[in-house]
Amino acid sequence: MYAKELIERAKKARENAYAPYSKFKVGAAILTEDGEVYTGVNVENASFGLTVCAERVALFKAVSVGKRSFKAIAVVADTEEPVPPCGACRQVLSEFGDMEVIMANLKGDVKIARLRDLLPDSFKFEEGKR
Ligand code: THU
Repeated sequence: MYAKELIERAKKARENAYAPYSKFKVGAAILTEDGEVYTGVNVENASFGLTVCAERVALFKAVSVGKRSFKAIAVVADTEEPVPPCGACRQVLSEFGDMEVIMANLKGDVKIARLRDLLPDSFKFEEGKR
């Protein structure tokens, strides 16, 4: 099952998280429909609001090399419960359709949901309705 492998990739990536302010390290790994994996980490900034989450870094890496279809994304942090992606990341991920969201923590707890269930009624741009 790819969930385990994806969690491992996210966990390994997490070691490179740049989180000097919150100290909250997050790792993500996104699986494309054609079987490639791209990882991401949170990248914080001295101007805190400019921080980018691990999920978006992973997605943007994949999109930047031409990927558009995704099967699943795993996200891992050192949390009591499996870490859920933030609302902003849910919206950004939803741009590329539904996918499986694999939430995990370092203790090995895992929770799996569909993106459409985590963010029903995501915003979609409708051309010509201005
Ligand atoms: N963070 C993520 O990377 N992903 C999430 O889904 C939630 C939050 C990061 C942003 C910030 O660097 C740190 O976690 C604390 O909010």
